[in-house]
Amino acid sequence: MKTFTLTRPDDCHLHIRTGALLKTVLPHTARQFARAIIMPNLKPPVTTVAQALVYREEILQAIPANVSFEPLMTLYLTASTTVDDIAQAAQHPHIHAFKLYPAGATTNSDAGVADVKAVYPLFEAMEKHDIPLLVHGEVAQSECDIFDREKAFIDECLLDMTRRFPQLRIVFEHVTTQEAVQFVEEASHLIGATITPQHLLFNRNTLLAGGIKPHYYCLPILKREKHRQALLNAATSGNAKFFLGTDSAPHLSHLKENACGCAGCYSAFGAMELYAQVFEEANALDKLEGFASFFGADFYRLPRNTGKITLEKQTWTIPDRYDEIIPLKTGETLAWKVTNPLF
Ligand code: DOR
Ligand code: ZN
Repeated sequence: MKTFTLTRPDDCHLHIRTGALLKTVLPHTARQFARAIIMPNLKPPVTTVAQALVYREEILQAIPANVSFEPLMTLYLTASTTVDDIAQAAQHPHIHAFKLYPAGATTNSDAGVADVKAVYPLFEAMEKHDIPLLVHGEVAQSECDIFDREKAFIDECLLDMTRRFPQLRIVFEHVTTQEAVQFVEEASHLIGATITPQHLLFNRNTLLAGGIKPHYYCLPILKREKHRQALLNAATSGNAKFFLGTDSAPHLSHLKENACGCAGCYSAFGAMELYAQVFEEANALDKLEGFASFFGADFYRLPRNTGKITLEKQTWTIPDRYDEIIPLKTGETLAWKVTNPLF
């Protein structure tokens, strides 16, 4: 049987929620990833070190026995965040970044930042204390076409931010367009980007042609094929600026299959299998380990993991659901399977 062994990867963008949902989804991530950057968009958002430590404890309790997994905590940036909060977070060993959500841009972003320029003093503090800024890079203006919001964010915000704060480490999260790829390629070595499995696998036809498919609705929204091609090229290029972040975002099925459905694709159940399929189809399996296991750790200045995982070429059918969560590509088959002796 064909197998592929690589250094245990990290998921540099993950939503795991709390309570029962957390208990359902976390084992899926811990089965394959050694660490994950945990998104703070809970209700209420995780804005302080103290809240992040409470959340971290809840996550630690949900890790299956005999599995090593480290949650890398982040804080949600608001207009009320202070420069002292940033100094405190930057020196805390469990806090790895701040997340900027433009207010209204996505799920649980109401507490986010309405005016990006108004928080420039906070970016200055992050630059000084050398703690990364993670960006949901879409403008939230309702008049801006939803397919153009990422490009508008580059033009209206990111270009100026990178000029004013040249030493600030920024992750342009879940990039979805050719323009975002180009921006990151041309930016300094302190600018990175995550890429999700859904944006590598699908274009907007999957979401909209032949009927609306709510389980393919996420933000930023799936784009045209030419953008998917640009993402594929970036992910498989070996360029260390691009690394793995699933943006796996579980929602209860009735909240997605709804007249006003929530944004988010659930991919954690088979994340490495999904990426392996993408990289194999692009003839670039040799580039998967850098993307999944090295470049994210290097960006966050964390030691690379020492454990390994093995993927086996083995067809399996994705279950219809995991409790009340419908997985990405539900009911379809995958060509690779992570075989972890712990599970
Ligand atoms: O599709 C998304 N879902 N995009 C986000 O930015 C947030 C996420 C969520 O939390 O559900
Ligand atoms: Zn996200």
